[in-house]
Order: sequence, then structure tokens, then C-alpha cells
Amino acid sequence: MPVETRRISEAELEEQKRFEEKVSAVLGERYERKPLACVVTYGCQQNVADSERIKGMLSAMGYGFTEKRNEAKLVIFNTCAVREHAEDRVYGNVGALKKYKLANPDVIIALCGCMMQQKHIAGKIYESFPFVDLVFGTHVVHKLPELLYKSLTRRKRVFELPDIDGVIAEGIPVRRDNDKKAFLPIMYGCNNFCSYCIVPYVRGRERSRRVEDIEKEFTQLAGEGYKEIMLLGQNVNSYGKDLEPRVTFAELLRRLNDIEGDFRIRFMTSHPKDCTKELIETMAECDKVATHLHLPFQSGNNRILKAMNRGYTREQYLSLINYAKELMGDELSITSDIIVGFPGETYEEFLDTKSLVEEIGATSLFTFIYSKREGTPAAKLDDPVSHEEKAKWLGELLELQEKISAEQMKLHAGKTFKCFVYGKGKLGDNYLAARTDGNLIIEFEGGERLIGTFQKVKVIEPLTYVLRGEIEKV
Ligand code: 5AD
Ligand code: SF4
Repeated sequence: MPVETRRISEAELEEQKRFEEKVSAVLGERYERKPLACVVTYGCQQNVADSERIKGMLSAMGYGFTEKRNEAKLVIFNTCAVREHAEDRVYGNVGALKKYKLANPDVIIALCGCMMQQKHIAGKIYESFPFVDLVFGTHVVHKLPELLYKSLTRRKRVFELPDIDGVIAEGIPVRRDNDKKAFLPIMYGCNNFCSYCIVPYVRGRERSRRVEDIEKEFTQLAGEGYKEIMLLGQNVNSYGKDLEPRVTFAELLRRLNDIEGDFRIRFMTSHPKDCTKELIETMAECDKVATHLHLPFQSGNNRILKAMNRGYTREQYLSLINYAKELMGDELSITSDIIVGFPGETYEEFLDTKSLVEEIGATSLFTFIYSKREGTPAAKLDDPVSHEEKAKWLGELLELQEKISAEQMKLHAGKTFKCFVYGKGKLGDNYLAARTDGNLIIEFEGGERLIGTFQKVKVIEPLTYVLRGEIEKV
């Protein structure tokens, strides 16, 4: 059943603004100095973007911010459910706060994000972590002022985990972590139901923000001097399918590319099933769109791809990559996510993943050992291969990728790249780090005032994962 997108109304947002004022008044009475909040974010960029909205609302309510949990009056964990490892870290870190909460009963401990949207986990938090005050799901982030107000003024714990879906809230204040690099969500949710993945269950159905809302936020970011703007969605290639009139992701990219300013547009994640030739052509044609394609293939074996419900074959994936290489040549950088040890995968099938890695020549890979997620179809499959064996396969894959990365890096010797200087480097004290269009990292010697600017840098020495270069004098 398609879920209708519900855009949160002005009136509802106004109501939240009134709660912001009420919280602000309570904090003013309770504390002499500005109370601090600590927001801890796990997982993907979407979570980072949500946390930036959470911080925007907290700032409007009068909170300052700290990285130190033991000086905060409010600690919020924005959780991730994609793999078991991320979940375990949350349990460990929340547990570690028990003493602090008992010694400081006025402190509020809150949990939100994808983990909380699963009933069995919220239940476990309720039973086993009685010192957690506030838990809220992924569809009610915009209601934080109201929930926090309840939490501050009542003795009862607040658990707000409605099973609603399809919500989009515009106009929430944002407090960004970086003043040159921004995340801009263009859509929410996922409809793909890859058999191993929990995301569609915890983030709901795909829904797109309106083009005008995206353009408005984008223009503002460009005007404020943001240089790298990353468009976010679980599957950006299906952007706009739910809009009337329909807009494709490629059309959106062209419109953003036309906005005035010196910036670079990035996007993730693309799904091979919905990645069109039109998108690849758009990337090649639009000068402000980075020639970096993060196109996860997950596995190189057709039987496994089918079992994963990915909706494409190895051959179809390769034909997309080849088309992109044809149009963008050397400038194209490909990255991918890969899952090793899907239930029932054999070593021979895993070798197909290795050979695909070799064939495409990715710049870098995000590799994961399969993690069983309760409630997904893959969780019911037999999984006879041991974790140790899977870890060995992963090791082989990483070794291969290291070899490929080093070879690819060599090809860049002597080239000059326009790159965005994002921070301090690691090669030495006076090194800066910059990112090329294709997402390669170049380090070079330079003064800190260059951070946040675009520079032309010539590669002097290719190392395994980074390039060493020198700034080109103009
Ligand atoms: N186990 C391991 N990796 C997973 N991913 C998603 N679900 C799982 C899982 N159950 C990986 C996929 C996806 C990335 C964000 O996380 O590779 O692309
Ligand atoms: Fe998960 Fe697949 Fe959706 Fe990505 S496309 S979020 S892997 S279900």
C-alpha cells in the first residue's frame, strides 16, 4: 500500500515553536548558566543531518553544546540499526552513563534514531535501562521541543514511537557541524527492501522533498559560502517519483548546478537498479557536480544479488560503470559498499565479488561482514559459514583493494587537481588535506587560511591511500 506523504503543517511547527519557548523558560528557572547538551551520532550521513536539526532545535531552546557527556544536562544518542556492531556500541555507551545519571538526577538521557524505531529494542531500553528518560522514533524528530518539555516537567519517562510513516517536516532550524561542507537531505526512507537491510522498516517509505524547498536551502547554503554540498537519500536515483509533476534526480541536479556560486555538488547513495544513463550524462555535463559515483553493488555474484533482492545483475552493473567511464574517463571515481558472507554465500560466490572489484577499479570500498537483522527476510536464511571464515574473506578483499588503490594512485602522478581544502593533513605538521572532484585525498604543505577554499594542487608522490602534492602557484 503506498503511503501518502504528510508534510508537517505550519500550525504544527508553530506549536513546536511555542514548546521551544516553554522549554527555554523552564531551563532559565532551573539553571543559572546556559545548560549544555551533548548529541552523540552513530551511523550514516542521514543521521548526521538529523542530528544537525536536533541541535538546531536545542539551540533555539537555549542549550549550549559540549562533546563531554559528563558535563551535559542533556545527552542524546542518535542511533543506527544497520549492523549489530553499531547497536552494541549504543548499549555500551548508554550503560556507561548510569552512574552519572544517578548522581545527577536532573540530567536527561535521551535516545532516538533507527534503533529506537524497532519495537523489541525500545522494549529492551524500557526494561533494562530505567535511567533513560526520553525515547523517540525517526518520524517525530520535529516534535523534540514538545517531548523535551514533557520530560523536563513530568516525573514519568517519555516514549514516543508512533508507527506513522511518510512525514516530511520543513523549516526546522539547523545547526551545522561544519561551515564549508553541508549535508542536504533530498528524500527520506527506502522502498527497496534489500533482504538483509533494516532501513526500510525503520525509516519508512520513500518520500521526496519538494524541488522548491531543496532549491531554497541549497541557495542559502551557497550564499553562506558552503563549498561542498552533499545531497542525501537512501536511494537518490528514485528522487521525485512521488512528486507531482514528476521530477527526476538528474533534473534536480541540473537545476542545482545552475545556481550561482563556487561550490561542488556531491550525492549519495545511488542504487544501481535506478541509476539511469540520464544521470550519468548529467554528471558528465554539469561542471559543479563531482565526478564521484558511490554506486554500491554489494556482491558480484548473480545468485547472491537475487537473494539480496537487489534488482540488477553483475552484467547490468558493469554496463552502467562502463558507460560512466566512457563519459567521464579518468576523472570518474567509483566507490561501493560490499557485504561479505551473506547467508549461504559460498567461497566461489565471494570470488565473483573479488573479480568485480578488480574489474571496476574502485577508488575505495566500504566493506561489511553480513550482520543479521531481526525482522528482515535474510534473517530467516541458513547461515552456515562461520564469522572467522567471513573475516578471512574480508581480509582477502581488503588486501586486493589496497593493491588496486595503490595502482590507481600511481596513475595520478604529475596530474593537477582542483580540490577542496577541508582541514589539517596527517603527513606532517604543516600539511593540509584536500579532496578532489573524484573524492581522492591530496595532502600538501600550506597555511591554515587555505582551509575552506578550492585550490589547484599538483601530485608529487602517490602513496597508498593519499596523494602528496604541492600547491600550484598562479
Ligand atoms: N549487514 C551488513 N551490512 C549491511 N548493510 C546494510 N545492511 C547490512 C547488514 N545487515 C550495508 C550495505 C549498505 C551499507 C549502508 O550498509 O552495504 O549499502
Ligand atoms: Fe537498505 Fe537496500 Fe534501501 Fe540501501 S537500498 S537502505 S541497502 S534496503
